[in-house]
Amino acid sequence: MLSRALGARAILRATATATTTRRLAVATPRMTRPIVRLQHTSKPVSAQVFKPLDTFPRRHIGPGAAEKEAMLKEVGVKDIDELLAKAIPAAIRSPKPLALAEGMPERDLLKRLKSIAEKNKVYRSYIGMGYTDTVVPNVILRNVLENPAWYTQYTPYQPEISQGRLESLLNFQTMVADMTGLPFANASLLDEGTAAAEAMLMCWQTGRRNKNTFVVDENCHPQTIACLKTRAESFKINVVVADVFNYNFTENKKNLSGVLLQYPNTRGTVHDYEALTATVHAAGGQVAVATDLMALAMLKSPGEFGADIALGNSQRFGVPLGFGGPHAAFFACKEDQKRRMPGRIIGVSKDAEGNPALRLALQTREQHIRREKATSNICTAQALLANMSAMYAVYHGPEGIKAIAERIHGMTGVLAQGIRDSGYAIENDGAFFDTLSVKVDSSAAIIQKALEKEINLRAINNNTVSITLDETVGQQDVVDLLQVFAKDSSSVNLEQVVANAAGATQSNVPVQLQRTSAYLQHPIFNSHRSETEMMRYIHHLQSKDLSLVHSMIPLGSCTMKLNATTEMVPVTWSEFSNIHPFAPSDQTEGYKIMLEELEKDLEEITGFDAASLQPNSGAQGEYAGLRAIGAYHAARGEGHRNVCLIPISAHGTNPASAAMAGMDVVIVKCDDDGKLDVKDLKAKVEKNKDKLAAIMITYPSTYGMFEPGVVEACDIVHKNGGQVYMDGANLNAQIGLTKPAEIGADVCHMNLHKTFCIPHGGGGPGMGPIACKSHLAPYLPGHPIVPTGGQNAIGPVSAAPYGSASILPISWSYIKLMGREGMTDATKAALLNANYMRSRLEGHYDILYTNDSGMCGHEFIVDIRPFVPKGIEAIDIAKRLQDYGFHSPTMSFPVTNTLMVEPTESESKVELDRFCDAMIAIRKEIEDVVSGKVPKDNNVLKNSPHSLEVMMSDKWDKPYPRELAAFPVPHLRANKFWPTVSRVDDAYGDRNLMCTCPSPEEYLE
Ligand SMILES: Cc1ncc(COP(=O)(O)O)c(C=O)c1O
Repeated sequence: MLSRALGARAILRATATATTTRRLAVATPRMTRPIVRLQHTSKPVSAQVFKPLDTFPRRHIGPGAAEKEAMLKEVGVKDIDELLAKAIPAAIRSPKPLALAEGMPERDLLKRLKSIAEKNKVYRSYIGMGYTDTVVPNVILRNVLENPAWYTQYTPYQPEISQGRLESLLNFQTMVADMTGLPFANASLLDEGTAAAEAMLMCWQTGRRNKNTFVVDENCHPQTIACLKTRAESFKINVVVADVFNYNFTENKKNLSGVLLQYPNTRGTVHDYEALTATVHAAGGQVAVATDLMALAMLKSPGEFGADIALGNSQRFGVPLGFGGPHAAFFACKEDQKRRMPGRIIGVSKDAEGNPALRLALQTREQHIRREKATSNICTAQALLANMSAMYAVYHGPEGIKAIAERIHGMTGVLAQGIRDSGYAIENDGAFFDTLSVKVDSSAAIIQKALEKEINLRAINNNTVSITLDETVGQQDVVDLLQVFAKDSSSVNLEQVVANAAGATQSNVPVQLQRTSAYLQHPIFNSHRSETEMMRYIHHLQSKDLSLVHSMIPLGSCTMKLNATTEMVPVTWSEFSNIHPFAPSDQTEGYKIMLEELEKDLEEITGFDAASLQPNSGAQGEYAGLRAIGAYHAARGEGHRNVCLIPISAHGTNPASAAMAGMDVVIVKCDDDGKLDVKDLKAKVEKNKDKLAAIMITYPSTYGMFEPGVVEACDIVHKNGGQVYMDGANLNAQIGLTKPAEIGADVCHMNLHKTFCIPHGGGGPGMGPIACKSHLAPYLPGHPIVPTGGQNAIGPVSAAPYGSASILPISWSYIKLMGREGMTDATKAALLNANYMRSRLEGHYDILYTNDSGMCGHEFIVDIRPFVPKGIEAIDIAKRLQDYGFHSPTMSFPVTNTLMVEPTESESKVELDRFCDAMIAIRKEIEDVVSGKVPKDNNVLKNSPHSLEVMMSDKWDKPYPRELAAFPVPHLRANKFWPTVSRVDDAYGDRNLMCTCPSPEEYLE
């Protein structure tokens, strides 16, 4: 067969080259494309011949010239300039084009970035401090981290088409619960430092917000202590850094809300905290333990010694170091604390057929519902990395994890013996897992000797160095380390050291701390040992989830645009991914160049003077920006300014971040047209003018409009002593046409995982850097280990100095590939795509909040409220869209029972039309309900989505044909995405909360 096929191909090739005109007839499953004739004309050779053909903007921007022409016609404008003039108020248009470089072709870009990356030096880093090298199983690297079917997914708000990642995140929770010995875990936080800050707040809330002392052991990681202090300031929590074994909890119990311990601690010591935990409990405090999942494979779990909360970084479970991130922080607590838990939680519920189905649980704690009263401001977390860590546990299983932990521990024991043999004292001898703190004459001298071998160690002080071993370490690495400590490096005899270590009687984990309890017993962690099984499991889960590999995800406010392969490739280059966040600066020159260039480009795009790349989500950016505003006021003797005005239409993270920054939230109304109610704004400003700190505005607004009143609103706030924070989630509608600084903002965050092409990863990672005017620059966040930020920097808002640094090459690449013109063209295309869809849907649905010229910005809102009295709600359309192969637009935000559509510039007209056709077909289905032609409660909308199981069942008692349910439009026959469960019952899941993997028996029940 193969030779016949090859023969046919050869004949085809010969025929094609024999003629100068070729016919290309390409049939796609979706449609038949028109026949295209390629004319070969001979042109005179010139220098033009060297012009590269791999230019990028035409790959990033969906519609081509002919498509744009047709779309402009549909919108009713003669050209794009007319559209822009009608959509954007003239007063805010930028006077000058963007001063960015020309766009680079794809191959040139990769060459340039490689030459920058090669300026990083990839040394072996045994620095520890919560970041430890790991062997990322290639089956996970290729099939999860480098796989668009995983990294382009959205947060699983539509559970019926997200069961794969929900299962994987449930595995993550189960793994965390098992390892920590605590029953209840979430599906990741942003990093260990901020997870510790969340724990502190949880303890404070438990103490009803009036016990203001939180004790932190002095041997917690320094960046964790710094993050805690930053967060504590706004709540006036008194962080006491102390030696917990010498702190008098009983005497200080009156104000004690809790204590943070590190296990093993930052110097590697494994302490027995059981008695201490009892003392803290007796004093009325809670115990939070920052810990290490790998160490817990050998150590008694925090839950077993009585801890209330356990948290940490799951990075060493199969996620690259990445110069600090992205990695998934984990967080677990006792049952009675679950409603105070920050972040996303996955729970088990059931679908309409009574089958088990997973979903996001207890959402009523979260910012998008509870706003300033939420348990945290977390929206984007670290889902993709949590999935990687969960897969690592699935791949290795309990015996594999134990073997890895024992190997690391065993090698550390050998190293300890050799160091002892060389005459050094080990501070934590006999009580370590993977980290040794060694007393030396000069830390600098030892560090230098190690550097000569391309090894990084940590200097704890002038006379103590620490070494943290990891899974990548082998025999030669141990020999190299022994040579660093040997008086005479040629005398190192590993065999002898091993023999001495074996002869040593002392155990390196105190007996009472050795783990005896089992973990990872669920079948999911015991069934996928061969790579074949693992590959199939990953693929099995992936095939349940709809992502950008299937169809457009038109989520308003989320900008689900292309995450191009060329942008993604550098993320896993070793020069970016294998760097410790605290590596010496001469090893991170490449990062420095890339980060500085990115900062400069972001400053140009926003019109601001300075930027910070530290915040690792949009919400963290909001927090950082508001804290910088607070510090600015305080520096001018106006520290009492603490009122933050927030329009009613704002995203939930805005009020939640303002509350976290210690501000009082005052809501500003919007008028009936969706515009900021300037009258109400003036009244609220007048009422609060002595205390006015800031206003947070999203632009274009979350109603999808460029509000003409924005400049006036900024003016009013400035005149009354406030600052303007711009939520930059909608920056995709501004680039090249207007700038936050020109509009009047003082600071804004950018969601790099929206506008700047970092993929959403099924709920993270993200990056939310901030840019600001020069007067706020001194307050940009600092860091205790790597100097960052302004002269009067606020404390760190992330554990790592540059947040999730290893995904920043994505945004750097996007800007460089698109260049000045491409970036602006992308914005124009985003506006055109949105207005085209608006125009196509307008006759079928009411579109809310267009401007005076009838235009929307980069997104628009479809009003479903007129159908509600007839029984059809936004959720019914969202679920029915799944039958048509689409992810729903944003549902009921910012207005209940609406759908907010944002197509982005990356979707072609063909795809926009497919979506519009689906919406129009659904409108007819709605009409059948509205007119009473079909039953109100038993129709194709109410019963959607229709899973394969429902469709294939022998029982079919629905009052419409199967065909209509599954194939409402013809192209679905060739390309159908099947929801794997039918509509998920949210209420049942919250009533019967289960947040770890159910046993197979429970599944069957
Ligand atoms: C308008 C707006 N602001 C802020 C955020 C928060 O960003 P993140 O999810 O990165 O925390 C979002 C996220 O969707 C958003 O849409």
